[in-house]
Amino acid sequence: MRIDVLTTFPEMFATSPPAALGVSIPGRAAALGVVNVVATDIRAYAENKHQKTDDRPFGGGPGMVMMCQPLWDAVHAVEAMDPAPATRVLLSPQGERLTQSHVEELARQPRLLLIAGHYEGIDERVIESLAPREVSIGDYVLSGGELAAMVLIDAVARLLPGVLGDEGSSGQDSFGEYAVPVSKKATETRRLLDCPHYTKPREWMGRGVPEVLLSGDHGRIEAWRLEQRLARTRARRPDMLPPG
Ligand code: ADE
Repeated sequence: MRIDVLTTFPEMFATSPPAALGVSIPGRAAALGVVNVVATDIRAYAENKHQKTDDRPFGGGPGMVMMCQPLWDAVHAVEAMDPAPATRVLLSPQGERLTQSHVEELARQPRLLLIAGHYEGIDERVIESLAPREVSIGDYVLSGGELAAMVLIDAVARLLPGVLGDEGSSGQDSFGEYAVPVSKKATETRRLLDCPHYTKPREWMGRGVPEVLLSGDHGRIEAWRLEQRLARTRARRPDMLPPG
């Protein structure tokens, strides 16, 4: 999957030396060629003399606003670099809050084009004309969309085929979908938080490990894990479960 990032800080996506997207799982996705992140400087498309991408807001007020022309031209130039149609995503605190199901949907697209705004905002006319999906990574304000774009790329990359390999399937993580019994016969699918995990030694500072995990009984272990996932979700994120 090609993922373009349009930014005025392309150096945040530098790959040598490897940074956030060059190590761990996103690094593996890149090394496997499953993901190709291409950062493009919006400034390179500014037609004005000083390659300015921002100006003062009409109506006054603090901060600067990203201008229409550089972003509009950058989007079209970058889209023309590859025939795969790009899903446009604008990272913004005003966007729809990113969830695992959005990440799954984005991971099914052939190509993503992420727009990382900076400054006070982006001229509304170019947002309306480009009609991107607007995505927020949470109810707080970052200095720009770049870190949010990296969060989205990391979350998408780990879902692409072959990236997690033998380490296990992403379906077993927090926010994965589990079949939960709702009656003697029926199960329903729910997204749940993950269960607790343990490794060697068997005893640490006087604390043991739940006996069931040492039993070798995979049926009992899976049942225990599901119970733990449900209990955790109920205690920590009741909003993820139906009421009652
Ligand atoms: N840009 C600034 N804050 C952001 C947020 N919370 N999510 C996405 N993009 C942003």
